[in-house]
Amino acid sequence: MASAVPRAAKRLRLTNTPGYVCTDCRRAFAASTQPRLQQQPPPQPPPSQHVGQTAKTTHFGFETVAEELKASKVRTVFSSVASSYDTMNDLMSLGIHRLWKDHFVRSLNPGIRPTPPPPRPPPPPPQSQRILDIAGGTGDIAFRLLDHATTTNRDPHTSVLISDINPQMLAEGRKRCLSTPYHATNRVSFLEANAEDLSAIESSSIDLYTVAFGIRNFTHKATALREAYRVLKPGGVFACLEFTPNLANPVLNALYKRWSFGAIPLIGQLVAGDRESYQYLVESIEKFPSQREFAAMVRETGFLVPGDAEGGGWEDLSMGIAAVHKGVKPV
Ligand SMILES: C[S@@+](CC[C@H](N)C(=O)[O-])C[C@H]1O[C@@H](n2cnc3c(N)ncnc32)[C@H](O)[C@@H]1O
Repeated sequence: MASAVPRAAKRLRLTNTPGYVCTDCRRAFAASTQPRLQQQPPPQPPPSQHVGQTAKTTHFGFETVAEELKASKVRTVFSSVASSYDTMNDLMSLGIHRLWKDHFVRSLNPGIRPTPPPPRPPPPPPQSQRILDIAGGTGDIAFRLLDHATTTNRDPHTSVLISDINPQMLAEGRKRCLSTPYHATNRVSFLEANAEDLSAIESSSIDLYTVAFGIRNFTHKATALREAYRVLKPGGVFACLEFTPNLANPVLNALYKRWSFGAIPLIGQLVAGDRESYQYLVESIEKFPSQREFAAMVRETGFLVPGDAEGGGWEDLSMGIAAVHKGVKPV
């Protein structure tokens, strides 16, 4: 296990190229629901609404809500989309999310290739990684990580803990697990938890922390990053795959915004009967920090990130629609 640490660090290769459908709340937000249905791209965030005089507020898509309400609203969104989540991912991204995820996993190269046993002394104990997939949802990343470890690195021991705030998403993941070779092994486990409070996980116990398309939903991203830092072993790797708010090319950016704001809520309505949740999902992308800002947050948490304070430390995918961020906890 110990030798996994420098190996994980070594593998860090970064490039510097360049609502909700809440049955409880629906009525309370009826005023904002109607204009959302008619919204045309490119989007303009509405002016902030004040939620009480003293309450701390945050964004929920383009709405401003009290901080303590955001997690439950996000939970409601994903409860609503859980059963159609995997199908919708294929439709909304035209299948491209699979390429991004495969690339993300390949770049992390999970698992430890066994060293051939020396001729006489007893063989070394099997090495493996303990991976934590945060906001793991239906396990789309987790099963890829295990497949890679098993087939590419011939490592039958590496395990993934899939953690998510939403029990319905985890239930979909459990269902999916039944049809994988990892079912009834100790290589997959599930934990319902808020990424901002991973107190169920021991400090310095994780080799690789992954979060894909999840962190933009967190209320306090810096708190989640601190928890990532705490649970990782020294030398452990933080890896995040997330959408970016803007593409560098303004023409492509305008086309992309037209697609995401025009088509995605519509597909959500037609396929999943849920426009509001998918409207939130595209709005939440707009609110996520730029690659530069997020890389700075990762660095400020204490992770070692290639590049310098002026930039670097991420890899753009598909002209910057999504980006991979990585950081290493110092040894
Ligand atoms: C878009 S899905 C991504 C699922 C999976 N990682 C993938 O790439 O397919 C986002 C996930 O983040 C989870 N999530 C949102 N807020 C969270 C939080 N504060 N803590 C943990 N999980 C959270 C949601 O429940 C949902 O399952």
